[in-house]
Amino acid sequence: MIEMGKIVEAPEQLEEPVTVGAEAYVSQDYARAEQERLWRKVWLQAGRVEDIPNVGDFITFDILTDSIIITRSAPDKISAYYNVCAHRGRRLVDTPAGKRNARGTKANFVCSYHAWTYNLEGKCTYIEHKEDWQGSLTEERTRLGPVKVDTWGGWLWINMDPNAGALRDFLAPAASLLEPFELHNMRPRWRKWGIFDCNWKVAMEAFAETYHVSSTHPEFMAFGQFRGWARSHGYHSNIGYEAPKGREEDQAKLRLGAGEDPRVSTAEMQVFTWENANTNTTMTLVEAAKRLVDELPPGTPAADVSKHWLASARAADEARGVIWPTIPPEHTAKSGTAWQIFPNFQIGHAVNNMLCYQARPYGFDPDKCIFEGAVYELYPEGEAPQNEWEYTPAEAWPPVLQQDFANMAAVQQGMKNNGFRGTQLNPYMERSIASLHYNLARFMGTGAPTQVG
Ligand code: FES
Ligand SMILES: [Fe+2]
Repeated sequence: MIEMGKIVEAPEQLEEPVTVGAEAYVSQDYARAEQERLWRKVWLQAGRVEDIPNVGDFITFDILTDSIIITRSAPDKISAYYNVCAHRGRRLVDTPAGKRNARGTKANFVCSYHAWTYNLEGKCTYIEHKEDWQGSLTEERTRLGPVKVDTWGGWLWINMDPNAGALRDFLAPAASLLEPFELHNMRPRWRKWGIFDCNWKVAMEAFAETYHVSSTHPEFMAFGQFRGWARSHGYHSNIGYEAPKGREEDQAKLRLGAGEDPRVSTAEMQVFTWENANTNTTMTLVEAAKRLVDELPPGTPAADVSKHWLASARAADEARGVIWPTIPPEHTAKSGTAWQIFPNFQIGHAVNNMLCYQARPYGFDPDKCIFEGAVYELYPEGEAPQNEWEYTPAEAWPPVLQQDFANMAAVQQGMKNNGFRGTQLNPYMERSIASLHYNLARFMGTGAPTQVG
């Protein structure tokens, strides 16, 4: 068992170089301890609200050995319970083979073993031969165990700790910086999951910085510079790109291509991104970028190209009933490209689309994780595609994401090498990873980054 050490307070802005040892990534004891100290104590993103629109709709969410049912128990009420029958412990709702989670609609949850039955409030409503128990089966002893549940940003969040504080407080200040993007209005274009050969932290960290872009995704260098910042915000952190003065909103995701003619490079970057990542943009943005050469004269200054591109895409979407929120450029700049929500969720937001990653442990094996990626956008009312989580082996994801995946298993192996001396995080571009480990150490009691030099 790992020892609880003393809590190390993170320096406010994490500007010093720090190192993190391999324990949190490779230790079996650490992976086991995460269950009690982390997963059962923290708010976790567990699904989307739109997956349970009607009373009786439910999904399950599994984290290690714990499984939770999240259901719409009344038109305006969502409830969550441990997915275990109070009789002899049969899992109440099974996950269909090959699926990420169960999803369906029920008036009652009936246990397959001896048919104890629970209503949507978690109350046990039927027990065969109940009288045999001589009155000992009280409501308290037979109801499903409650789990805290709340919603934010269109997601369902659960917390197994009965003493947990409010979700909205936990999400500060990420929540207030993201709320103008109205993420709850977005619907998934695709969502994929797989089982990867690395620790969940290795997977999340592959997306938590822009330092890797030039070397892992060299194709993007044709379209400009991708140097980016990372900022620590308590439990959470965000990242964004450097932007030229006067184009502060270019710190966010909908950026202009660089080079001689931004009309051309923006169109090229958009087409490349659509075809090779199928994320971080929408067909409307791609089409509007392709029109730039016809709509603007050569030599149009970059700032004007940017304004025209976004205004033209906004208008094209508006014409089909898709209304983007209006966000001041200085807010767009502050919010950056993505938020790392502690411990294992990333929201890569934009005004009309988002890309989200989540990674969870796969059993207690520190070398494996369940990795998920979902791409969302705004759709006209009633036209969002109906899709499910699709099991997708690493080699079947979009090529740009495969470039990221290729590093993951290799990092996991490398960290177990006798010669590995701990990470050396870039104190500017990889601050988000230092932030994760300072916060993890608050829960785990071990593994805080140590200052170098
Ligand atoms: S275990 Fe569920 S009814 Fe017996
Ligand atoms: Fe990447």
